[in-house]
Amino acid sequence: MSGFSPEWLALREPVDRRSRNAAVARSLSSYLETETSISVVDLGSGTGANLRATAPLLPQRQHWTLFDYDADLLTVAKRELAAWADNCALSANGAVLKKSGRHITVEFRTVDLARELDSVFGFKPDLVTASAFFDLVSAEFIQRLAMAAARYHAIFYTVLTYNGAQHWMPRLAGDDGMISAFNRHQTIDKGFGPAAGPEAPGHLADEFWRVGYRVVEGESPWELASADRSLTEQLAAGMAAAVAETNTIDPRVIADWVASARTDASVGHIDTLALPA
Ligand SMILES: C[S@@+](CC[C@H](N)C(=O)[O-])C[C@H]1O[C@@H](n2cnc3c(N)ncnc32)[C@H](O)[C@@H]1O
Repeated sequence: MSGFSPEWLALREPVDRRSRNAAVARSLSSYLETETSISVVDLGSGTGANLRATAPLLPQRQHWTLFDYDADLLTVAKRELAAWADNCALSANGAVLKKSGRHITVEFRTVDLARELDSVFGFKPDLVTASAFFDLVSAEFIQRLAMAAARYHAIFYTVLTYNGAQHWMPRLAGDDGMISAFNRHQTIDKGFGPAAGPEAPGHLADEFWRVGYRVVEGESPWELASADRSLTEQLAAGMAAAVAETNTIDPRVIADWVASARTDASVGHIDTLALPA
């Protein structure tokens, strides 16, 4: 298992979906307006949330390859995509879906992207996409990805990359210290080398600009209110566990922080679209 449970991914999916930047999404759709088919690779696909949210922006015939190193998450992805589709035929390694007039074929690949990035481009993607993935990877991985995408003239679209900004309501004296410690924890190696963490959106924009792409960015913050209490509580618990691992904040301060009731929270993300020249 990757440490990302299907339950956590299910909890965040509707919030991720409503948080996506609509202007960036429209730029992708209009770029593809005259196309009738597209080949897509989804990096760190988890249970397939990115496919479910991105498919409506894309041409009628779509072929997706979902990459994740967690085979259990890909098994859940297959089940959830089948439930999401209007019609579905499953095979050992894939699925054929009909959804809102779109014809979508899907392949599932268990791959460690830290080691096997090249295999992604073997699928000759027109579009490389990901959701909530790029803060896990290193600046060096982002550079390699941008160079490979440029070689294949692939479009790049990623959503919900954490940018380090957080606001909790009501505010507590301990917030700033907790957020800084959490952001430092975000840079710990997740298998790709030192993680870009909150710097990932900046690296994405720089590296795609460097290979001659036009970059379109927009904010996609989670705006969490009382209806999102389960997600807010799990987010706070996850932050507390991460901060505890840094050994930089008194455990009693962490315990008080996580036990304090909050009404609202905002967590900053950026969506990035990079278009070949
Ligand atoms: C935050 S989750 C996002 C999942 C999904 N994209 C979504 O939006 O719900 C990050 C995903 O990246 C995957 N992942 C992390 N490191 C990976 C690696 N080295 N190779 C392949 N997948 C990886 C995890 O298994 C997990 O599914």
